[in-house]
Amino acid sequence: MHEHQIERARHVTTRLSGFAGPAVLGLSPWTPVGLRDPGWMPRIETLTDVATWLTVTALGLCLVAGVQHLVAFQAAGPRLRGQQRRRSIRRRPEPVAGSGCPVPHGSSEPRPRARRRVASTEVDRGEAEEFLRLFHAENPEAGPVEARLEAVLREIDATGTYWHTAEELAFGARVAWRNNARCIGRLYWRSLQVRDLRTVGDAEGVATHCFGHLRAAGNGGKIRPMISVFAPEAPGRPAPRIWNEQLIRYAGYELPDGRVLGDPRYVELTRELVRRGWRPPLARGAFDVLPLVVETAAEGPRMFPLPAEAVHEVELEHPELPWFRDLRLRWHAVPVISNSRLVIGGVSYPTAPFNGWYMGTEIGARNLGDKDRYDLVPEVARRMGLDTSREATLWRDRALVELNRAVLHSYQAAGVAITDHHTESVRFLTHVEREERAGRSCPADWSWIVPPMSGSQTPVFHRYYDTAEQRPAFVTDPDAAQRGLLGAPRAFG
Ligand code: ARG
Repeated sequence: MHEHQIERARHVTTRLSGFAGPAVLGLSPWTPVGLRDPGWMPRIETLTDVATWLTVTALGLCLVAGVQHLVAFQAAGPRLRGQQRRRSIRRRPEPVAGSGCPVPHGSSEPRPRARRRVASTEVDRGEAEEFLRLFHAENPEAGPVEARLEAVLREIDATGTYWHTAEELAFGARVAWRNNARCIGRLYWRSLQVRDLRTVGDAEGVATHCFGHLRAAGNGGKIRPMISVFAPEAPGRPAPRIWNEQLIRYAGYELPDGRVLGDPRYVELTRELVRRGWRPPLARGAFDVLPLVVETAAEGPRMFPLPAEAVHEVELEHPELPWFRDLRLRWHAVPVISNSRLVIGGVSYPTAPFNGWYMGTEIGARNLGDKDRYDLVPEVARRMGLDTSREATLWRDRALVELNRAVLHSYQAAGVAITDHHTESVRFLTHVEREERAGRSCPADWSWIVPPMSGSQTPVFHRYYDTAEQRPAFVTDPDAAQRGLLGAPRAFG
């Protein structure tokens, strides 16, 4: 075993980086409220003092906002400087498609006032209508929309929600993919296979069908883009939830010396699942698959170990560097995002795991390369014999390329579908063109679309995109995002 090669130092502060703005505000003149006078604060005794204080405070806030904006503008780089839209500095997140979406769709839109019997989960009529009109416009064979719209509105009046036809469900799921601004692989959005599992809402049923999804989508390496749609949210009938960010995730174990064995991203989740009774393998490794956690209102959270044959993995080797195998690296074949909510025409499907196939950089540049993930670049560079004494030798870049070559080579050698970032960038622009020819705009988030290595060598780097969000959509709620990392808070009770 070469565990020591993949164990790594723990990084605890990175998740705080998104809070730089509020932290700066914390130093603003509001700081002394409720605190001891630090001595350097001005005294406020007269009305004029109050007025002066308020003016200074307002100016201070403007200055902070201005500086933040300027920094964001600079950070976005020269190619974005012409853009009018405000950008904030956020760390480029772990590339989980659809995760971390900050604004749940429809949340800020006014709802009709009438009929609030089951207000908390009642479907928004406006969203239902918008979706049905889209469905009928893009599927002329479905006939005119009016009759269906009337039936749906009556169903919402009676029950607070409505049941999609199989065709509406499949179309809605495909369009949610088409609308996913962070996904570079949308050219094949029409090919998404939709498993209609809307009658399944119990934990065991969800877990069993998820394992079925892994087998069917894995398809012996010829990966099929697929989504399994489980029970929808309905008034008085809360839908199940999956805690894990993806069906397959690797445990992270904190070692006594503070380093981590496995995926540091899941140290807290692993600890929580162990506390809940999950027993890791006797010989812990760097790639131990975590159990699937399904939470329902009736049963609470339940853990299900993944059957080994449902977990297809690829062992990594390099086409020219024989020692690469000794690192004993591997990754799973199919990335199935499992904590995003699919929203179609106002109906929420919180459990709707979906997958495509990997782009090599997701594994080689991010999962294995990021400092707060497996952090393998220094080890690869060392073994390559590179001069790591100075940044200017570009040892990081050189090692990163070889790590990524190993990923692409190993998946291809194992007959598992994977794509590279150059091919996928060209395909994406084909997709954007096709969408425009169909009279649609293609929402895209530059910071997610541009690959994490060799960005300027790909055509997706050299242009702007429409950013307006569109529905149907995949949405990751903040509490779902937390559950995927921490195993808390529970969705129910
Ligand atoms: N970036 C995620 C990961 O590395 C997967 C996100 C979905 N990726 C995809 N190719 N469909 O596991």
